[in-house]
Amino acid sequence: MKFFIDTANLDEIREAYDLGVLDGVTTNPSLMAKEGITGQENIIEHYKAICDIVDDKVSAEVIATDYDGIIKEGLSLAKLDDKIVVKVPMIRDGVKAIKYFSNEGIRTNCTLVFSAGQAILAAKAGATYLSPFLGRLDDISYDGLDLIEQIVHIYQTYGFATEVLAASIRHTMHLIKCAELGADVVTCPLKVITGLLKHPLTDSGLATFLADHAKAAGK
Ligand code: E4P
Repeated sequence: MKFFIDTANLDEIREAYDLGVLDGVTTNPSLMAKEGITGQENIIEHYKAICDIVDDKVSAEVIATDYDGIIKEGLSLAKLDDKIVVKVPMIRDGVKAIKYFSNEGIRTNCTLVFSAGQAILAAKAGATYLSPFLGRLDDISYDGLDLIEQIVHIYQTYGFATEVLAASIRHTMHLIKCAELGADVVTCPLKVITGLLKHPLTDSGLATFLADHAKAAGK
């Protein structure tokens, strides 16, 4: 299972990378705006800065929503660095563009996916990654994990090469359930990744070990 961090914050990306468990980064226009990154030039420089931190797989999202615009923007994003994965929304022209990028050997991440039907279309078009947003489904009283399970089952049944990238993950149980269900990738905030570290018995056990060690050493 791959771990991506879902942020445009460079410090958080560095922290996750330093932990030694990071496989990639996903960003979106809202995450870029949250970091105050505006204007095409700054956005491009920011993608380059992210690529300088991690080894591979940096999702950079197109803003265009028409076929020609998506292709133009995607090609220029892909040229920035070999680590870039072009993130394309699940819309009609997006699906066509994913097919084009797939034929050109350019990796894609199909984003804003909320149904199994959309997942089938993206896989047929040759998306490298598929991002179902499970937290946003939970927000409106649909079980996002059910969708992950359904897509994993369909992809396995037909041997689709598209990887299920569970997105919009809000807490550690989302991540753990996605692991149980066989999602290929999870993308989540730093606090979800570091949240996996936490267990009170680890903390109390370590405190006891250290205290016993100190006592035996006569400290
Ligand atoms: C994934 O690629 C998206 O950027 C992200 O997971 C959306 O998460 P949110 O629903 O918490 O905004």
